Amino acid sequence: MLFVAGQLGRAERQKNLFQSQDGLLEADLEASEGWTQLAGNSANLFTYNGQVPGPRFEVRAGDTVRIHFTNRLAESTNLHFHGLHVPPTGRADNVFLEVQRGESVDYEFSLPANHPPGMFWYHPHVHGAAARQVAHGLAGLFIVRGELDVIPEVAIATEQFLVLKDWAIGRSGGVIEPSTMERMTGREGSLITAGEDLNPKLRIPSGGMLRLRILNASASRFYRLKLENHPLAVIATDGGPLAVPLILEEMLLSPGERADILVQGDRESGEYRLLNLPYNRGGAGMMGGPQRPSNADVLATMLYEGRTASKLDLPASLATIDPLPKPDGPARTFVLSESGMRFLINGREFDHNRVDTTVRLDTVEDWEIINRGTMDHPFHLHTNAFQILDSKGEPERAWKDVVLVPAGRTRRFRVRFEDFAGKALYHCHILDHEDLGMMGVIEMLANA
Ligand code: C2O
Ligand code: CU
Ligand code: CU
Repeated sequence: MLFVAGQLGRAERQKNLFQSQDGLLEADLEASEGWTQLAGNSANLFTYNGQVPGPRFEVRAGDTVRIHFTNRLAESTNLHFHGLHVPPTGRADNVFLEVQRGESVDYEFSLPANHPPGMFWYHPHVHGAAARQVAHGLAGLFIVRGELDVIPEVAIATEQFLVLKDWAIGRSGGVIEPSTMERMTGREGSLITAGEDLNPKLRIPSGGMLRLRILNASASRFYRLKLENHPLAVIATDGGPLAVPLILEEMLLSPGERADILVQGDRESGEYRLLNLPYNRGGAGMMGGPQRPSNADVLATMLYEGRTASKLDLPASLATIDPLPKPDGPARTFVLSESGMRFLINGREFDHNRVDTTVRLDTVEDWEIINRGTMDHPFHLHTNAFQILDSKGEPERAWKDVVLVPAGRTRRFRVRFEDFAGKALYHCHILDHEDLGMMGVIEMLANA
């Protein structure tokens, strides 16, 4: 494959961070296919501005975003801003918009002034091609800075972004196309990178703090995260900060999910591995399908270096998260099922011409997601984040936009449709399942 040189200058091409200035983020973004360095080898990938992961965008609530996007791939693509609360219409987060090969589109939208700070991301969302384009490399971070970042204990921590991505690269450096069975179970590659690197080194001072901001940008792979000898203090999830840090020994991240984690450097100096422990998400070994490995992968290595003058503690509180009020709209049920190569929601395959769910703005609803399949399905809703309901039916004090529904199980969440009318999507974030039909259209209607 030829590397198609874009219109961008070298400096622009290599810029991996775009920050808003005076309320405006303006950037050129180009999707293309070409040879790129991946974990020390040359691979033929799809990239944004020649990079994997794509450049990181950083904005604040209230900012305007203008992305001059050019598609230099040989196929159509588009941009989805996963988790952002922005319009799903026009040239904003409109996944129904397709950018043909060779075409340019100026994406433009503003974040509401009360948008929560957090870790969001962008990736292509053309139905039928999402898994393939993401597995070929297209994904990048979209960070909203805000109150969470200025909490002293958070601000002082060393910030590390870890975009987790798996790759199936053949001998010639090309991406291996998955078999039918791999598409059914959700493709997984054997090479896993964290950011630009394989097993990057993360430095932590003794007595200090490391802030790990982790995104699962894989098409289908799950990560069951564990950092040797160190508990994970989760301070934010998909849609923004938690009320207080949540201390976990390990954490499961399904595709599309994010975790913002503080690690305290309070152990003996040394090296500690960030591991991806085995996890059975179903479908493995199914009719000759891929067996999932039973040993852990090393994602990154944390090492102690230097020391702080005094020991840093975890922040006591992070944000005020009000639970959503009791629903005043209908309760809805979504049944996820699999039948051969067909992946269904309420018995139907995706059809972009059909509206599956119609809701009213300023309404609170409880959604029940029932998984009747043999595999876990991470259910994702665009535009509005939700609060997962616990076993007692109480909303958790955390904003999520992906909820993992294990095989044979049911999960419920509460959501309020706010601000933006128009059509958007919900789907399984195992992108092969999305492409195979496990997706529906939601239309949000403004009140008369
Ligand atoms: Cu990250 Cu509709 O997807
Ligand atoms: Cu999304
Ligand atoms: Cu799925």
